[in-house]
Amino acid sequence: MKKILVTGGAGYIGSHTVVELVEAGYEPIILDNFSNSQESALEGVKAILGRDITCYRTDCTDAAALREVFEKEAGIAGVIHFAAYKAVGESVAEPLKYYHNNVGSLVTLLQVMEEFQVDKLVFSSSCTVYGIPDQLPVTEQTPVQKANSPYGNTKKMCEEILTDLADSGSNMHSIALRYFNPIGAHPSAKIGELPLGVPNNLVPFITQTAAGIREQLTIFGSDYDTPDGTCIRDYVHVVDLAKAHVAAINRLLSGKAENIEFFNVGTGTGNTVLEAVQAFERVTGVKLNYKIGPRRPGDVPKIYADVTKATEVLGFRTTSTLEEAMQSAWDWQLHLQESTTKA
Ligand code: WQD
Repeated sequence: MKKILVTGGAGYIGSHTVVELVEAGYEPIILDNFSNSQESALEGVKAILGRDITCYRTDCTDAAALREVFEKEAGIAGVIHFAAYKAVGESVAEPLKYYHNNVGSLVTLLQVMEEFQVDKLVFSSSCTVYGIPDQLPVTEQTPVQKANSPYGNTKKMCEEILTDLADSGSNMHSIALRYFNPIGAHPSAKIGELPLGVPNNLVPFITQTAAGIREQLTIFGSDYDTPDGTCIRDYVHVVDLAKAHVAAINRLLSGKAENIEFFNVGTGTGNTVLEAVQAFERVTGVKLNYKIGPRRPGDVPKIYADVTKATEVLGFRTTSTLEEAMQSAWDWQLHLQESTTKA
């Protein structure tokens, strides 16, 4: 089986991608420093797959440690690079931490990959590179704008690094997947999102409020130019997103990819925050305690994807609805409560 190194493979999207890689016949090798993930995710992956996945506790900014992994795991066919910090607010407060980790880890990883002649990379990018788009839905040709945060800027810089490398005549072939808003959890409810501390993102805040962990959800702003005044996002089920990574690896290994390719990974549909809340209430039967509060600084009013390119080139299609994603997020939250009470 072809070995795929998955950095950040114990994280939210990483762990779901590890499962889909195995289902697709690949042999994933996890590399994670567990700074923003938990070992319990590996138990969940094992419970789903019925087998262990090799995992190295390694920091991607540590070249020597990376070399050790590449030496031990001969024959790595490709790499999927998730390892990065992703809290927008934290990046504003601690920009150097984000530039060192997010940009530094990519540069170090690419250098070690070149040393070991591993020349296929899937990079975890984000729709945040579009900033506040002038037109909707956004296509891959939508101008990449000055990012709203150091976090967003690190994603933009990483894309530029991959582009410069491609233009340098390097053998490296990369695919950057621009995620919209990943939500939900594996249908088995054995893996899911594990936000450390108070969640920044909407859906874990919804499920924790419904579970009584949080008192009340605040919806940030209802005076935007949208049907109900709340922001619009493109909420994509994390399992669909994981499958997009398998499709990207397949394309790179097929030899058909250009040196650098970009793909939007979303559903192609925008939903408001209120619609997301109502979908959760409808599908779970749980009445959510929420109020409308002031806008959150830096929020993009409206963004959702044109996914034509990913559909036509990667053969990627989302299969899950917003309701199914919300149900899976709730099932995961209930599983977390259960395992906490048992512990
Ligand atoms: C979604 C909507 C909020 C919390 C971020 C990153 C992005 C990507 C996905 C990594 C917004 C509203 C939220 C709350 C709310 N991450 N909201 N109350 O900001 O679209 O994107 O996560 O790649 O890079 O920026 O996601 O879930 O924080 O917010 O009203 O308590 O929910 O205003 O409109 P966001 P989010």
